[in-house]
Amino acid sequence: GRDLIGMEGLSAGEITGLLDLAEEFVELNRQIEKKRTTLRGRTQINLFFEASTRTQSSFEIAGKRLGADVMNMSVASSSVKKGETLIDTAITLNAMHPDILVVRHHASGAVALLARKVDCCVVNAGDGAHEHPTQALLDALTIRRNKGRIQGLTVAICGDVLHSRVARSNIALLNTMGAKVRVVAPSTLLPSGVETLGVEVFRTMEAGLEGADIVMMLRLQRERMAGSFIPSVKEYFHYFGLDEAKLRYAAPDALVMHPGPMNRGVEIDSAIADGAQSLIREQVEMGVAVRMAVLDSLARKLPNA
Ligand code: CP
Repeated sequence: GRDLIGMEGLSAGEITGLLDLAEEFVELNRQIEKKRTTLRGRTQINLFFEASTRTQSSFEIAGKRLGADVMNMSVASSSVKKGETLIDTAITLNAMHPDILVVRHHASGAVALLARKVDCCVVNAGDGAHEHPTQALLDALTIRRNKGRIQGLTVAICGDVLHSRVARSNIALLNTMGAKVRVVAPSTLLPSGVETLGVEVFRTMEAGLEGADIVMMLRLQRERMAGSFIPSVKEYFHYFGLDEAKLRYAAPDALVMHPGPMNRGVEIDSAIADGAQSLIREQVEMGVAVRMAVLDSLARKLPNA
């Protein structure tokens, strides 16, 4: 379709196509001259209703490297603060004829709703606990570059699965690409019916990490926790925080990932985050390349392209 709302529904061929295209941009991004002209004359608006470091900056860099005029809408100082709704904000921006809208919103389904109200391409940069498709793509690219494949790998996704759009997008992508997906979490941090997503469920790190090729840690999203999901941060780290002792249960050549932002000492020990098995910085590098691939492939669907 014209938009990228989620990994759900994308075929293995479509995913592989995006990853192959992203590989070209990884090379480009390591050169001194990084510019392409695919989006020359086009306008990209980044509309982030939630905080972001990685996603917003990499979408801005990606758009600019492809030649687009990129505008970052500052929601904090916008008329959203005066009560303007999401849809009215979108319709207002749509009247300025953007070609691409990149949207992050705290409500699941908000980006798909917005996409139905505007004429331009819409890219989901994270909606509530629903999907964060470009994160799953950059994770897949990172895995493929380090392991040479995705199919047949055992990937353990650990921690706050309940609140995680990153987990949902990764589960969908990894299943489509033929990986074996596990989730590891206390019962309070698992969504009901998680088994129906095509994952094996574990409630201890020791069992869930056994023989895993990839250990993907999730941030404990305390800003989304109204009640008591965990006894205490100290206890959470003790049972579910990734440290050297727990990582030993995984395969000897296991690699560690985290989408960021990290809570060091909460879901991951600093020594592991900065250690030899960590891919966390590479994930950030892949983020720019993957977003260039997504924008580039959308550019081909724009009118008069
Ligand atoms: N991984 C991720 O989406 O990070 P940001 O919230 O900083 O964009």
